[in-house]
Amino acid sequence: MIQITDVWYRAGGNQILSEINLHVKRGEFVSLVGASGAGKSTLLRLIHMAILPTKGVVRVDRFNSRSVKAGDIPLLRRKVGFIFQDFKLLEDRDVYDNVAFALWATGARRSTIKKRVFQVLAGVGLSHKRYARIEELSGGEKQRVAIARALANEPFVLLADEPTGNLDPVTTEEILKLLRKINTRGTAVLMATHKDGLVKTLPSQVIKIKEGRIVP
Ligand SMILES: Nc1ncnc2c1ncn2[C@@H]1O[C@H](COP(=O)(O)OP(=O)(O)O)[C@@H](O)[C@H]1O
Ligand SMILES: [Mg+2]
Repeated sequence: MIQITDVWYRAGGNQILSEINLHVKRGEFVSLVGASGAGKSTLLRLIHMAILPTKGVVRVDRFNSRSVKAGDIPLLRRKVGFIFQDFKLLEDRDVYDNVAFALWATGARRSTIKKRVFQVLAGVGLSHKRYARIEELSGGEKQRVAIARALANEPFVLLADEPTGNLDPVTTEEILKLLRKINTRGTAVLMATHKDGLVKTLPSQVIKIKEGRIVP
């Protein structure tokens, strides 16, 4: 559950977000659409609690932006997966390590980690690439690894910031299909994109953002 109540965000002398109210229910698919610079990434970063609101409150699961402690952030991040346009993978490591990385910090046993890595890689159709180096992969494969890493800790929501921004149309459709599949299996998805055409085929609630405000 994500609940954003009357959130304002100001940075570097700019009013970036104003009067934001947003509710993402468990299992929902929400698309956040707006031009470049509208404030989409900032809103996702608030949900990830990488930044805190200037005014208002962000609630994510049992965490609240007013009372969250630095020590809570890793716990929150396990419940909130994040994928990016530029994948943000460890390029000099293999696929396995990139996904396992998300699990090492949990203190899970090696055998448990291995099982889970294989499971999430199978889920994104990349079992055969488990020991490939990231730099050998196509863009679509890299995004699949990033999705597997984001899902490793079974988050209740996946935040996707322009996840297809670096991909061709065919690969874009494949990644959207994968996000739909993940959503069907119970994970909420909140996807930000500047391409409103992209969300027409998605069974999603569409939220429009313009100049830092949600618009009808
Ligand atoms: N830390 C910051 N300081 C000043 N301005 C910022 C900061 N972060 C973002 N902005 C500005 O806020 C606006 C919204 O940015 P962003 O959330 O990245 O938009 P989007 O993801 O929709 O393209 C942009 O004009 C950006 O330059
Ligand atoms: Mg952005």
